[in-house]
Amino acid sequence: MTSVQQREIWNTKVGLVFALAGNAVGLGNLLRFPVQAAQNGGGAFMVPYFISLILLGIPLMWVELAIGRRGGVHGFGTTPGMFGLLWRHPMARYLGAFGVLIPTGLVVYYSYIVSWCLGYSFFSAAGSYFGEDTRTGMGSFLDGYIGVEANQHFANLGAAYFFFAVTMLLSVWILSRGVVRGLEMLAKVAMPVLMLLGLVLVARVLTLDPLPGNPEGWDISHGLGFIWNPDLSSLTSAKVWLAAAGQVFFTLSLGFGAIQTYASYIREKQDLALTGLATAGVNESVEVIIGGTLAIPAAVVFFGLAQTREIAEGGAFSLGFLSVPVVFQQIPAGQFFGCLWFLLLFIAGITSSVGMSQPAMAFLQEEFQISRRKAAIMLGVGLFILSQPVILFMEFGFLDEMDYWVGTFGLVVMALMEIILFAWVFGMDNAWEEITRGAQLNIPRVYYYVIKYVTPTALLVILGVWGYQDAFGVLMMDGVAEEAVPYKWGARLLLLALLLAIMYGIHKRWGGQPPDAPEHMPKEGDA
Ligand code: PHE
Repeated sequence: MTSVQQREIWNTKVGLVFALAGNAVGLGNLLRFPVQAAQNGGGAFMVPYFISLILLGIPLMWVELAIGRRGGVHGFGTTPGMFGLLWRHPMARYLGAFGVLIPTGLVVYYSYIVSWCLGYSFFSAAGSYFGEDTRTGMGSFLDGYIGVEANQHFANLGAAYFFFAVTMLLSVWILSRGVVRGLEMLAKVAMPVLMLLGLVLVARVLTLDPLPGNPEGWDISHGLGFIWNPDLSSLTSAKVWLAAAGQVFFTLSLGFGAIQTYASYIREKQDLALTGLATAGVNESVEVIIGGTLAIPAAVVFFGLAQTREIAEGGAFSLGFLSVPVVFQQIPAGQFFGCLWFLLLFIAGITSSVGMSQPAMAFLQEEFQISRRKAAIMLGVGLFILSQPVILFMEFGFLDEMDYWVGTFGLVVMALMEIILFAWVFGMDNAWEEITRGAQLNIPRVYYYVIKYVTPTALLVILGVWGYQDAFGVLMMDGVAEEAVPYKWGARLLLLALLLAIMYGIHKRWGGQPPDAPEHMPKEGDA
């Protein structure tokens, strides 16, 4: 075997938490969360959400950190190698392919959306959409931008490609600088800026006056009440539970393969317990304080409750790109605040999209001995090519189809697989030892049982109910418009092709051999 290069290690403990938090805090916190909350009854959503956080989110965060740190100790930065350490069977590595597929599949469309945020930040500052002061008006601005129609704002996709190219180049540059000089540096700059922008915007939203024309006379307290007044009636709704659990996964980047990769750059005896909890804490603060205060409460003040519900049904784009800009057009210094809002989204998004790209980076670098620079360029070019159908077939639901399989369903499958391998195949006593080694926080013993029984059972139930209620219908394309069907198939084929390519890579690298007994690879600085 070729000699393995020394793996990088996060520079500082704080830097590690910043990097993990930068990974976790993303569009999920600022757009997906408010939409999920509003679609599922506002306050009614929050109870299942916090229960899911405690029973699924936090334990899985520890599990993924532990799987990843163990992987890194043996020279593996991605789940194919890591699963091989947990289960010495040739299948293990092929199952691990999902931990490369999911984040890479996600970044294909996520980075495009991130680039819209950059574009819209610029358009806000320049006042380009000012004058389109209704949701329909903003809708045609967006349709022009993404090439659904040519109109007075955009004749073609030129602007969209420009901002996408800038976003991709920036990502490639960050990735090529590596874990410490790229990801960690970026997070150390981006996270404080993000907090600052978020708080400025929160202050602005909290002082919004109700509009004279506001249909129901709502003010900001009604907006906040909508999200926060707890409502226990939803506890029996399977739909709300699934949405809450799905949001917890998405926002904490769990079930992707990304946290494992980040954890592979942690020293063998360095704490995971506190790191995991701190990461979840930062992410949840941004999610519920900043994400929960901005878009939806602002929409309630300006559009009233009934329309806000309607906006939420339209999804994250309708909230972030159509409704919020209308609000900015009605307040003083709206161009400035609009610019801040989209800049906030962009910063949150780019730290996440480079985080999603790192598993593919590690896979290329470690399993195929490709240099970091080359890997970053290969990945950038590959992602740019793969994202073409997402860009060109936007209106036919290509993106939605990919998002369903990798960004919603895939996560739960991946999480279930890894927790079974870790808690049951590798064994819960070994697993507990991995999680607690070097811990700077005493994880309550009850989590031993939560990880062993509760989390996997909950995941099985989610998958069962979901598969039955939802995934089967999606698979059969129930209710999909006829002309969209070929594009939806295209999205599935793209993901399948990517999966096969990754599996082929695994086969080339290991040739279906059962994993050896892991050899120990100490890292720089280990005692
Ligand atoms: N957690 C991110 C968000 O909330 C999404 C993400 C998933 C980022 C996986 C990195 C890896 O937007």
